[in-house]
Formats: sequence, structure tokens, C-alpha cells
Amino acid sequence: MIQELVPGRVAGWDSFEDQPRFTPHPAEAASLRSTAPARRQEFANGRYCAHRALRRLGTPAVAIPAGDRGAPQWPDQVVGSITHCPGYTAAVVARRTRISALGIDAEPHLPLPEDVLEFVARPEEHARVRRLLAERPGMRWDRLLFSAKESVYKTWFPVTGRFLGFHEAGIRIDPEAGTFSARIPDPGGTGPGLPEELTGRWRVSGDLVVTAIAVPAPEGER
Ligand SMILES: CC(C)(COP(=O)(O)OP(=O)(O)OC[C@H]1O[C@@H](n2cnc3c(N)ncnc32)[C@H](O)[C@@H]1OP(=O)(O)O)[C@@H](O)C(=O)NCCC(=O)NCCS
Repeated sequence: MIQELVPGRVAGWDSFEDQPRFTPHPAEAASLRSTAPARRQEFANGRYCAHRALRRLGTPAVAIPAGDRGAPQWPDQVVGSITHCPGYTAAVVARRTRISALGIDAEPHLPLPEDVLEFVARPEEHARVRRLLAERPGMRWDRLLFSAKESVYKTWFPVTGRFLGFHEAGIRIDPEAGTFSARIPDPGGTGPGLPEELTGRWRVSGDLVVTAIAVPAPEGER
């Protein structure tokens, strides 16, 4: 499913089951602080998909330890992103010469708790989500908004090295086109390699909402 949300020059891999026989590289395992079995399993699932995606890209599946604030440390010439939620794991990777940044997120297609929506949504986003929920009730627009924000953060952080608060990006969902845009209204705040407006794709499939952002590299570098 993830491959449908990203351009062809991005290699994706996803899985709907745990990978109990997959052992992360020692450098990856060493970067994982938690000893909780569920967390160790989701981490292993993510690394499994990441290694598969790297191979699909034609790159050796080297260790991908966790770096600053939990961001995966990809090989120098590669950008990528990982997501996991119950019953689903995905990873995407691309050559840095073709894609500047990637961010993906998967969520269960369930209502977002009202207090979480209050916390993450700007007032205008909250109003748009309320309207969409009333007009098109088959879809959890609140959960999609949340997922889009998580994809924005995963795209943003590896490029800027800065935390981004939930209200710092303004998301607009296009309910027809299956796309969304994210405007980060701090001019210059996106740093080199990121435009002021990020655009992404979303999809609902089965019990899942999945979002993805792929930022093309500047023309000259491709
Ligand atoms: C880090 C965060 C985005 C993870 O999202 P999540 O929905 O909880 O979890 P997911 O399973 O989808 O993603 C987890 C994966 O994201 C990746 N990740 C974690 N921190 C990251 C970071 N700073 N930058 C990029 N990727 C990161 C990791 O690969 C992680 O999996 P792993 O630890 O097993 O390797 C989220 O917990 C968070 O801290 N959000 C606050 C910031 C934010 O979202 N701001 C919104 C701006 S509009």
C-alpha cells in the first residue's frame, strides 16, 4: 500500500504482520532504549521493512540506528521514513539526489479522542475537520489530520534538526484528490531543501489511515 502513496523513485516496503524471526543489527538494537517486548517488536518490524526497502532501492541494507530524537540514521546518500501501528509497518527510502525528505505515518482508522484533537489542531483546522465529519461521516478526518501532522514532523525533523509543534504547521486536506498540503508559516524556517509548503498523499484502506510526503530534490541535484 505505501508504494501507491509515493513517487516511483521512492522505494517502499510494508507488512501486515510481526517479524518475530527478524533480528535487528546490533548497532540498531543498541540504539533502542526500551526493554518492553511490544516496543522491541515494533522496532524490529520497522527495521525489517527499512532493510527491505533499501534493498529494493539497490542499496546495501546497512544498520539504521536511532539518532537524535529517535529519527532513524539513514546511510549518507539516502533519506527515509518509518511508521508502525498495530497490524501494520512501513518504510520508504530514496536517493538524496532525487528526494530531499520523506515522511510517512499510519494510524488506525478510528476517531481521534476529542482532547487530542483539541491539542493538535489549530482553530481553523478544527473547524474544517468538524465540517468534513458532518458532511462526509464515513471517514475519520480528525485521525487523518493527526496522521498528516505526524508525516510533516518526520519530513521536517531530519532536514532542520528542530522540533515542530502541532500548531506550527497548517494542514489543508483535499477530500476529493486524496492529497493534503502543510504550510509552515515561518519563512525560512523550513531550512534548505524544504519548500514552505509541503504536499502529501493520503489513503484509507481497511482499518488504516496512511499519509506520506515526498519532497523532490531541487532540479540541479537530480
Ligand atoms: C516522533 C513521532 C512523530 C512518531 O509518530 P508516531 O505516530 O507516534 O509513531 P510511528 O510509529 O508512526 O513512527 C515512529 C517512527 O518514527 C520515526 N521517528 C521517530 N522520531 C523521529 C524524528 N524526530 N524524525 C523523523 N522520524 C522519527 C522512527 O523511525 C520511529 O520508529 P522507530 O523508533 O521504531 O524507529 C511522534 O511520536 C512525535 O513525537 N510527535 C510530536 C511532534 C509532531 O508530530 N509535531 C507535529 C508537527 S505539525
